[in-house]
Amino acid sequence: MKLRRGFIVIDKILKMTRIYRKVIFALLLAASSSITNKALAQRDSIDRKVDALLARMTLDEKIGQLNQYNGDWEATGPVTKSVGNKIDEIKQGRVGAVLNIMGTDHTRTFQDAAMQSRLKIPLLFGQDVIHGYRITFPIPLAEAASWNMDMIEKSERIAATEASASGINWTFAPMVDIARDPRWGRVMEGAGEDPYLGSLIATARVKGFQGNGLGSTDAVMACAKHFAAYGAAIGGRDYNSVDMSLHTLWETYLPPFKAALDAGVATFMNSFNDLNGTPATGNSYLQRYILKGRWDFKGFVVSDWGSIGEMIQHGYVKDNYEAAEVALKAGSDMDMESRSYINNLSKLVADKKVPLPLINDAVRRILRKKFEMGLFKDPYRFINPQREKTMLNRPENVEVARDMARKSIVLLKNEKQLLPLSKDLKTIALIGPLVKARKELKGFWALDVDKNEENVSLWDGMLKQAGETKLIYAQGCNITDMSKIGFEEALRAAKQADVVVMAMGEAPDMTGEAKSRSDIHLPGIQEELIKEIKATGKPVIVILMAGRPMVFNWTADNVPAILYAWWLGNQGGNAIADVLYGNYNPSGKLPITFPRSEGQIPIYYNHLNTGRPAQSDNDLNYKSAYTDLLNSPRYAFGYGLSYTTFEYRDLAFDKIIPQIKDNEDLSFSLEIANTGKYAGEETVQLYIRDVVSQPLRPVKELKDFRKIMLQPGEVRRVSFTVTRDELASYNDKLDRVTQPGTFQLMIGSASNDIRMQKSFEVVN
Ligand code: NOJ
Repeated sequence: MKLRRGFIVIDKILKMTRIYRKVIFALLLAASSSITNKALAQRDSIDRKVDALLARMTLDEKIGQLNQYNGDWEATGPVTKSVGNKIDEIKQGRVGAVLNIMGTDHTRTFQDAAMQSRLKIPLLFGQDVIHGYRITFPIPLAEAASWNMDMIEKSERIAATEASASGINWTFAPMVDIARDPRWGRVMEGAGEDPYLGSLIATARVKGFQGNGLGSTDAVMACAKHFAAYGAAIGGRDYNSVDMSLHTLWETYLPPFKAALDAGVATFMNSFNDLNGTPATGNSYLQRYILKGRWDFKGFVVSDWGSIGEMIQHGYVKDNYEAAEVALKAGSDMDMESRSYINNLSKLVADKKVPLPLINDAVRRILRKKFEMGLFKDPYRFINPQREKTMLNRPENVEVARDMARKSIVLLKNEKQLLPLSKDLKTIALIGPLVKARKELKGFWALDVDKNEENVSLWDGMLKQAGETKLIYAQGCNITDMSKIGFEEALRAAKQADVVVMAMGEAPDMTGEAKSRSDIHLPGIQEELIKEIKATGKPVIVILMAGRPMVFNWTADNVPAILYAWWLGNQGGNAIADVLYGNYNPSGKLPITFPRSEGQIPIYYNHLNTGRPAQSDNDLNYKSAYTDLLNSPRYAFGYGLSYTTFEYRDLAFDKIIPQIKDNEDLSFSLEIANTGKYAGEETVQLYIRDVVSQPLRPVKELKDFRKIMLQPGEVRRVSFTVTRDELASYNDKLDRVTQPGTFQLMIGSASNDIRMQKSFEVVN
C-alpha cells in the first residue's frame, strides 16, 4: 500500500516534469546557497558575459552552439553523411564542438575556422580520453580493482595533462555506469557493480580530469556518462532497453552520477537506452527533474552519438523534427552527430513548438563552460605545440602508469605460495597467445597515439627481471581459433622448465562498445592448452587478461596460481613481472563479481535476501538457487589475495552499548596484523546490513574501507566511524531516510570473507 502511494507520488512528479516551462523557471530561480561569495561573483561575471554574447547571437548561431560534429581521426559511431564541408560550417558559426580531432596541428586548423565565424566563438574539442591519452593506463575496470582513489585521481590527472597539451579540452569520461552483467562489453569502461565504490571512483576521476578547476590549462572538462542506467541493458546487450524500478535507479544506478556532480563535473552525457519506455535522450524525468532540477546541475548535457536521431528507431518519435523537439525539451543541450538540432530547431522555433528560452538555456550552459575554460580570452590556450612536445609521455608519468598497473592486478589463487617466483629458477617457460602481446595490452578505448614497440609485453617485462633465469617461449595457440598446432611446441617448452607462466585471455576488442558477448568463457582452445600443460606436472601460473570477468572453472579449480591482469596499458608487462617476482605484492580486490557460468548472470554481492535464501552452496531445499550450479559466485566482490596474510582482531566500540542515537555517530576500531612473510597492503572492508527495512535492503552494502600497508609482523589499529546519514536509504517516496532498528556491521577482507561482525541499533 505504502509502495503504491509512493508510485502515485512519482507519477505526479513525472507529469509535473512535462510542464517544462515551469521547470525551467524554477531552475532559473534556484540559486545555490552553498557557493562562496567569490565563486558567486565569478559566476555572476561569467553570466553577464554569457548574456551579453547571447544578446548578439542570431537564432542560427545559437543553434550552432548546440551542434557537435565528428572530426576525421576515427569515427566512434555511425557517421551521419556530411552535406557540406565541416570547416565551412564552422566558419558559418554552425558548430559548437567537435570530437575526434587530436593534436595541436589538427585542432588549430579547426579553431582557426571558428575564429573566422562572425562572433568568433571558440570550439570545444571532445575526445574519449578513457584510460590515458599518450600513455595508456589500465582500463577503468582494472583501475577500479586497485580501490586506490589517490592513484586513480593521479592517472586521470596525467591523462588530462597530456590531452590538454594536445588540443583537447573535454573528455567523455568518466563512465560511471554501474554494471552487474559481464556480458556487456562496456563493463571494462566503468568501476564495476557497487554504488559506493563507484561513487568514490567517479569523484576521483572527475577531480583528476578537472584538476585545479576549469580555467587551468591542464584541466579538461569531465563528462559523467551515460545518464542513466545504461549499464543495466537487458541481457547485457549494448544499446538495449532498461526496465528498472525507480527505487533501484535511485539506490544503485544514480549515486555515482550524483558523486560526479558533487565533485563539480562540467558535463553529462545521456545514454542510448530507453529507461522504462522513454529513451534517456528524451527523458525529462532524468534530465530535467533529477539532473537539472533536484540536483541543480549547472553544466550542460551532450547527447550520446546520434542518440537524438535514434529516438526514431526506438519508435519514440516519427522523424528528426520531432526528435529535436523532444530531446531539447527533455534537457539534452548538445546534439552529438545526429544533426537533428542543426536541421530542425530553427523551424521548431518558427512553428512555436520549441520556446526560445529553452534554446537560450541550453546555449547559456555551453557558453558558460567556454568562458570558464578561458577560451574566449585565448581560444588557442590548449593548442600549444611546445607544451605538446614536453608534456607527453614523460618518464615520471610512465612510472605512475606502471605503479597503477601493478596495483590493478588481482591475485585470485596462490596455492602453496607458488608465487612470488624465486630468482633462482633455472628456466621459466612463458606460454600462451598473450605472452608477446604489446598493443593488445591497451584494450579497448585506447587512443593509439603511442608507438607499438613502447608497449611492454609480458615477455619484455620478464626479460628485464629474470636475471640468470632462462626464459623460453611458445605461443601454444591463438586466442579464438581451435587449432592445436602449437600445442606440441608448448608442451616441449613446459617440459624443459621449472615453472610455466601462461598468458591467456580475450582479444582486446572482445570488450568495449558494441562488444557484448553471450559466451564469456576463456575463448577458443585456451583452457585445453592449460589442461595439457598442467598434465606435465610442472607448476603452472596462469595470467588472465580481459576487459571483463571471464568464466574459467577448470583453471580456477586445478591451476595452483592465477593472476587477473585485465588490460593494463603500456606498462602491463613490467607490472606483471613486478608482481610475479614479488617486487610488488598484489593488493587488488575485485570491483565486480565473477560468475561460475553465464547462466548465473546477473550475480552481485549486494542483492536482496529473498524469502527463501539458500544457506549454503548446495542448499536446494525449496531455496532460491540453481539445481545445476553452486549458489556462490566463482569470485566474490571485494576478493583478492596477497602474498602475505592478515589477521583481524579485537573489535572495540567507543560506546558500551553500540547504538546511534539522534545525530550521534558510531565509532569503532580493530587491529589488523600482517601474519605472513611479506610486506603487504590489505583493504579492510566495512559492510552493513539494515536487518529489517521497508523497502528491503541488501544483505550487504559496502560503506567504507581502508587500505593499509603493513610490514611482516606489524599490527595496526584501524578506526571507522559510521554516521546516521550513511545508513540512509530511499523510502517509497524516494526520500532518503535512516530507519531506526537493528543494523549488522560486517568487517572483512572480501564481501564473502567477513572476519568480524556485530549488531548495533539506530534509535530515534
Ligand atoms: C558513443 C559512446 O557511447 C560514448 O561513450 C562516446 O563518448 C561517444 N560514442 C563518442 O565517441
